[in-house]
Amino acid sequence: MIEELPIADWRGPYDTGLKARALAALEAGSVLYFPKLPFRLLEAEGEFLDARVADGKAKNISLDHTSGKMQASSLTGERAARLAAMIERFGASAAALVHDLLPYRDVERARTSFRPVQVKGRSYSRISDDRLLHIDAFPSRPMHGRRILRFFANVAPNSPRHWHVGQPFEEFAKAFLPRVGPHLPGKSWLYDKLGVTRGKRSLYDELMLSLHDAGKLDSDFQSGSPHQDVRFAPGTCWLVFTDQVLHAALGGEFALEQTFHLDIDQMAAPERAPLRVLERLSGKTLA
Ligand SMILES: [Fe+2]
Repeated sequence: MIEELPIADWRGPYDTGLKARALAALEAGSVLYFPKLPFRLLEAEGEFLDARVADGKAKNISLDHTSGKMQASSLTGERAARLAAMIERFGASAAALVHDLLPYRDVERARTSFRPVQVKGRSYSRISDDRLLHIDAFPSRPMHGRRILRFFANVAPNSPRHWHVGQPFEEFAKAFLPRVGPHLPGKSWLYDKLGVTRGKRSLYDELMLSLHDAGKLDSDFQSGSPHQDVRFAPGTCWLVFTDQVLHAALGGEFALEQTFHLDIDQMAAPERAPLRVLERLSGKTLA
């Protein structure tokens, strides 16, 4: 489930064999792990390794690279600008690596985030507790089958980022699909009209959210389903389709993350996409 790649540069060109191995493993639902690829902070950025740079309300500080707007930071003025520059430098580096490593030619770079608060010991509602195994699904941003690809860096000086990585998506979907209830017709239309969602949710979005919630609410699944215990060391990075790979973030502080979206026709094996797996299992067109 973890594919280690010996990449030590943020820009290619990378070895052809290595690129093929990366693509196959990523689409099959492995986590690509880059143990020799630290994202280095500038000396002056060391001050941002402090939970107080977050405003304490949202889980993460996020940056929209198109507008330059940063959200959920407590910083202002020159310090806020330097934090935004650090997050942007990471996001641009992650985008360059994804571009040079993978054959996807039309990847949308979405939000970049900085996660400066220790995961362990925080309190959440069960549905928003990402220390439980889950697949990513956005409540307010319908994807219509598009993929969620995320690149992470552990920039903590000492502590590893502790994850559990769960069973393959299809096994999870087979177990939970029969349990998720019928979706109310009209709900996605209403949510769109009320502004709860940006655009109308497809049946795919409803199903993915239901699977996300049902998995988190099932204590037996959380304690008993097979999973791998993974510790991403300080100074390492990893890349994963988080809409496909069951994951739980149990501990760690100071991570950076860049989200990408892509259409499934960009994939070498679109049949592995959650949309296609769910369509096959349900016998319905979902997006
Ligand atoms: Fe997640």
